[in-house]
Amino acid sequence: MNIEELKSTLEKIKKSFKNQKKDGDDKESWNDLRVKYLGRKSKIKELFGLIGEFDPEERKKVGKMINDHKDYIEKEIALLKNKIEKEEEKIKYDITLPPRKRDIGKEHPITSIFELSKEIFSKMGFDIKTGPEIEEEWYNFDALNIPESHPARDEQDTFYINEEKKVLRTHTSPVQIRTMLEEKPPLAMIAPGKVYRSDTIDASHSPVFHQIEGLLIDENVKFSDLKGVLYKYLSELFNDNSIKLRFYNNYFPFTEPSAEMHMNCIFCKGEGCKVCKNSGWIELLGCGMVDPNVFKAVDIDPEKYTGFAFGVGVERLALLKYNIPDMRYFYENDLRMLNLM
Ligand code: DAH
Repeated sequence: MNIEELKSTLEKIKKSFKNQKKDGDDKESWNDLRVKYLGRKSKIKELFGLIGEFDPEERKKVGKMINDHKDYIEKEIALLKNKIEKEEEKIKYDITLPPRKRDIGKEHPITSIFELSKEIFSKMGFDIKTGPEIEEEWYNFDALNIPESHPARDEQDTFYINEEKKVLRTHTSPVQIRTMLEEKPPLAMIAPGKVYRSDTIDASHSPVFHQIEGLLIDENVKFSDLKGVLYKYLSELFNDNSIKLRFYNNYFPFTEPSAEMHMNCIFCKGEGCKVCKNSGWIELLGCGMVDPNVFKAVDIDPEKYTGFAFGVGVERLALLKYNIPDMRYFYENDLRMLNLM
C-alpha cells in the first residue's frame, strides 16, 4: 500500500462511516459504530498494523494520517452518544405530560375580606385601628353604655377571665372607646379583629369569629352619612353597584337610634332563595348613631359632636362573597375550601 492508496482507503472509511451514522437512530447505534470503526476487527486497527510496510521516512506521516482519522471518528461517535443520551433524558422527563397537581395555599377568605375592607375604607379616609383581645370589662361593656346589671352582658355569652375584671372581647366595639380616648374628633376609623363568645359551633356560629367595627365622628354627622358609607363599602366589596340596603329599627346600648342593616340577596337578586330563606334580604350588620352616654364616657361633648358606628360580621360577608355554604369550613383547615374562592 502506498500513501495515495492509504488516503483513498481512509476517505472510503469516512464516507461509509458518515452514511451509517445517518441511518443509526436507535440508542445503541453509537456503540455499533464504535465496534465497527474503532474496534479490534476494524479497518483502522488493520491499517495501524500496516504502518511497518511503509518506508521508514513515511511512517510518521502515515501514522499521523491514520491517527487523525481515528480522532475524527472518536469525536463523531462521542457527539452522537451525547445527542442520543440527551434525547433519552427528554423521554425520561416527558415535558408534554400534564403537571402533577399540587395543593397550593392562598389567602384565607377571612383575610381577604379584612384586606379588601381595609383598602376600601382607607380610600374613604378611615384609619385602621386594633385593640387587645383580652379586654377590660370597662371597654367591652361599661363605656359602651352596658352597665353591670344590663341584660346585654349575659346575652353576649361572655368568656370571663376570673377575678381580673377582664374578658375575651365579645365584639370589636371596645376599639371605638380606645380610639375616642386616644384621639379627638373629627375621626374616622375601622377596627378589624377577632372576637369571642361562648357559643357552640354550627353552620353559622363559632366561639371565635371576626368583626369589623366602624366609627366616624364629626360635627353634623347624620344617619344618611352612615347609609352612604355603608353603601359605598358594600357595593365595592361585592363589586356590584346595584345592591340595595334597608335599615330596620333595632336596639344596641351604644347607639341611638340603632338599626340592623339588610342587603338584598346577591344570589337571587331579591327573588327569594335558600341563602336568604326566601325573604330576598340578608341581615348583615348592626349600626346606629353613637349614643350620647358613650360620648360622655370618653369625654367628648355630645352637644358638639355626633357620629355613627357599625359592626359587621366578617364570616357572614365571606360566606356571601365567596359562596361558602357553612361557617365551619373557615376553621377546619381543609385546603379544598380555598378552591371555592
Ligand atoms: N357590637 C355589636 C355586636 O357585636 C355590633 C354593633 C352594632 C356594632 C351596632 C356597632 C353598632 O358599632 O353601632 O353585635
